Amino acid sequence: MAGLIPQDFIDDLIARADVVEVIGKRIQLKKAGREFKACCPFHDEKTPSFTVSPGKGFYHCFGCGAHGTAIGFLMEYEHMSFVEAIEGLASIMGVEVPRSESDRPARRYDELFSLMANIEQHWQGRLRDHPVAVDYLKQRGIDGATAKRFGIGYAPDGWSNVLDKFGKSPEATERLLATGLIIRKDNGKHYDRFRERIMFPIRDPRGRTIGFGGRALGDGEPKYLNSPETVLFHKGRELYGLYEARQALRHIEKLVVVEGYMDVVALARHGIDFSVATLGTATTTDHLNVLFRLTENVYFCFDGDRAGKAAAWRALENALPQVREGRQIRFVFLPEGHDPDSYVNEFGSDAFVKALDNGVALSDFLIGGLASQVDMTTIDGKARLAELAKPLVHRIPQGVYRELLIDSLAESVGLPPGKLEKMLGKAEDRAGHSAQPHISTRRRQAVTGGGRPSVVRRAITLLLNHPGAVDKLDIEKLAGVNRRGVELLHDLIETVQEEPHITTAGLLERWRHDEEGRHLGKLAAIEVPEEEDFDAAAELEACLDQLALAGRRERIDFLIEKQKLSSLSDDEKGELRALH
Ligand code: UTP
Ligand code: MN
Repeated sequence: MAGLIPQDFIDDLIARADVVEVIGKRIQLKKAGREFKACCPFHDEKTPSFTVSPGKGFYHCFGCGAHGTAIGFLMEYEHMSFVEAIEGLASIMGVEVPRSESDRPARRYDELFSLMANIEQHWQGRLRDHPVAVDYLKQRGIDGATAKRFGIGYAPDGWSNVLDKFGKSPEATERLLATGLIIRKDNGKHYDRFRERIMFPIRDPRGRTIGFGGRALGDGEPKYLNSPETVLFHKGRELYGLYEARQALRHIEKLVVVEGYMDVVALARHGIDFSVATLGTATTTDHLNVLFRLTENVYFCFDGDRAGKAAAWRALENALPQVREGRQIRFVFLPEGHDPDSYVNEFGSDAFVKALDNGVALSDFLIGGLASQVDMTTIDGKARLAELAKPLVHRIPQGVYRELLIDSLAESVGLPPGKLEKMLGKAEDRAGHSAQPHISTRRRQAVTGGGRPSVVRRAITLLLNHPGAVDKLDIEKLAGVNRRGVELLHDLIETVQEEPHITTAGLLERWRHDEEGRHLGKLAAIEVPEEEDFDAAAELEACLDQLALAGRRERIDFLIEKQKLSSLSDDEKGELRALH
């Protein structure tokens, strides 16, 4: 979709958009020096650490790490897709997105939101006048207060209850269709999607209902029916119960991810307010970003059966890029035949909390999971384990956590850690290339790495803070420099030289769809201390010179080493002389 809108239009839009205006319309900003501050709308806080920088065209929260451009803000806060955010921004600025076809203004969502709210209320009313539904909830241990808190309702039997009440005009019917609450038949007629079901509203972070899950009262099929993907509702991003958890808790110390609506509601009924559910999908990286923005402690709670184990393993794979010191990720498996709902109803909330505490740490789950796939009593089996671990270890950001995990792994296979690390290291190139051919490993590590700030990092930070300083840089200096991140630095310089008017925000948007886009945002948020006579261009130039020099030294060392071991070709001899 995004590809349909010309890149230069996006660049231009971002360059001209007033990020302060876009954000200031939605939350209260206070001027603080060159920047603006507010309490972060994406996590709970009392003192403002959310900063909007008009100069760089983006926002950053020093509390939870949320950051982005005006487009990113619209996506997060207003719940828009990338294309919708562009359309929204364009309409604020009174320009047309060159792509015509769909030019629905963002304002139209207001109507959809209020329609959803009305229908939710309607279904809550039907719950009250349908004892069969109330009885069902009671029999499942849900009291009135909990039902109310979650806005639970009932959609009675019938093909056109919602349609008749809310679809009285062709326009109204179109809106209903857009919410996914009615379905269009081939003959152009419509009918209600949800019939004879307990209705669970799914809310966005601001508490607006964006979709529903409906549970059949009895043995009806399917057991759960969910809203389809709509302009309001993107399953891979939403967590059921998150809004309610944030309402209930002042401070979110931990979050537990469960599988079902009923699990969340039953836990809340027992005073456990910190659970959320994915909506019939695996835990995505988007989910994890949301979770770790709110807390450092995330538990995944799954049924003890095979499907539960498989779901846990998928969650583990997606969680690896988020792993780091200070964060705790645990996997909790309930006894076979139980889910959190049945468990907490049978054993109570203390027992459930204890089960959480007994959860398996991510590292143990990873190593145990791999070990169960091989025969650890043989050398072959251990070698195989190292092989299986490679792509997983590679997903973990460099840092203390990764080192420790490699140590534990080494112990399991009975190898010295250094040796294992070498074996794992070899996988990096391959894994990096096969998974994401457009991002090289070197490039990714530069910005994800937990190590010392390198020259490359400094150069990228400078460049993002002062795109204008790139003007006369000699990009050729980077040729042959073999350092992590150089490729990214090279691409950034090239981009700015081709588009001299691009802003910090514009650069971040260019890299939006790359994995390191996120990390670029972090570097852009670093304040470059500026003395009176600070010259960003000269600083950048110095970084490049330093890199070029280091590159030359490495090449000399390499050639001398080679000369010692074997011999040099005539070309290499010439090169060595020139380098000296
Ligand atoms: P489960 O089958 O584990 O149901 O589905 P549950 O949560 O234990 O439900 P109860 O206790 O029988 O009422 C877990 C989740 O998977 C999705 C739903 O999101 C559900 O909450 N699901 C399940 C569906 O989307 N459709 C289905 O038919 C079944
Ligand atoms: Mn259940």
